[in-house]
Amino acid sequence: MPNSKIAGIGYYVPERVVSNDKLTEYMDTTDDWIKERTGIEERRYAVKHEETTSSMGAKAARIAIERAGISPEEVDFIIFATLSPDYYFPGCGVLLQRELGITKTEIGALDIRNQCSGFIYGLSIADQFIKSGMYKNILLVGAEMHSMGLDFSTRGRNVTVIFGDGAGAALIQASEAEGGLLTTKLHSDGTYAEKLSFMSPGAHGGFHHNKAGLDIDFGWPTKEEPGEIFVTQKMKDEGHLYPHMEGQFVFKLAVQKFPEVINEALTEVGLQASDLDMFIPHQANLRISQFVQKRMGLRDDQVWNNIQKYGNTTAASIPIAMAEAWEAGKIKEGDLVCLAAFGSGFTWGSALIRW
Ligand code: UT7
Repeated sequence: MPNSKIAGIGYYVPERVVSNDKLTEYMDTTDDWIKERTGIEERRYAVKHEETTSSMGAKAARIAIERAGISPEEVDFIIFATLSPDYYFPGCGVLLQRELGITKTEIGALDIRNQCSGFIYGLSIADQFIKSGMYKNILLVGAEMHSMGLDFSTRGRNVTVIFGDGAGAALIQASEAEGGLLTTKLHSDGTYAEKLSFMSPGAHGGFHHNKAGLDIDFGWPTKEEPGEIFVTQKMKDEGHLYPHMEGQFVFKLAVQKFPEVINEALTEVGLQASDLDMFIPHQANLRISQFVQKRMGLRDDQVWNNIQKYGNTTAASIPIAMAEAWEAGKIKEGDLVCLAAFGSGFTWGSALIRW
């Protein structure tokens, strides 16, 4: 049975830097509040009409493919993780295929919607396809263009200040060598689906609200007020067309689930936190990463954080951080690397890689 190795990795972040101070021009917030609560100093925003989630993903993918020493035509499966796709459908996977000029049709393209843990879910899917012998070169991309869908009024400040745009990619390859992807652990709990969500536009029509204990009237389209597809005037007026997050609720679960899922992976392969050369947490909040670092007893040089520069880039945050750490020479052959994420769904997971 072949192993899965990360043969190439790359990232792309847009050039436009948006400081915390810049956000104070749109909403009631301060540089101090953002830095103190999240660690974020600035983030990147893509250029509207020129860049999209899939175009950024393609830039990161080209680097990963080149570093793997293959051509785009040798990719035989694409996995694209994002919560901010270019289109409602089709997904970004096929748009990326077109952007990369991959014309062969034997290829498959899969879109996954697992938000912050999308990259780890994608890694696990890629690993299973490689171990089963079905594919040899899988391109996994995590990319987000949050800036197109945020509420820049004070109403949305708790969410808007956190998120940034960017993309990361990995070329995962079948290998006969020892090591590579040692294990992935995946979890989910739909009980709190709406606590961190972007509910509308969508086809729910209020269906889930009682189960979730919600009292929101989206003004679902009627004959009298037809609205646009999935979108009503009420949604526009009341700001329902934006992400929603109960920050403290998410925070408390995140700091519990991160250590649990990391230990689960370490225990399975008979290793411990002190064996880790590099831990790359999903960049949700610097305070979460620091809490997890302390709980796991890790030194500063065992953890890579870059949320200060890019904010939370959701599905892109792990591959961006992993590529950055690799470029900085902090991930070397033979190193033990741990990835972990927690986010909307809730979904969470971890991966252990012998590089
Ligand atoms: O990546 C996916 C997973 N996501 C996460 O893991 C996020 C987890 N949660 C968090 O990171 C934090 O909860 C936040 C950074 C989102 C919020 O920090 P917090 O310390 O939990 O603040 P809070 O939501 O409890 O709000 C405290 C106060 C409130 O004011 P009052 O009610 O005390 O007067 C908010 O209205 O801070 C206010 N506030 C702000 N003030 C200035 C909320 N957002 C802002 C803001 N600027 N941007």
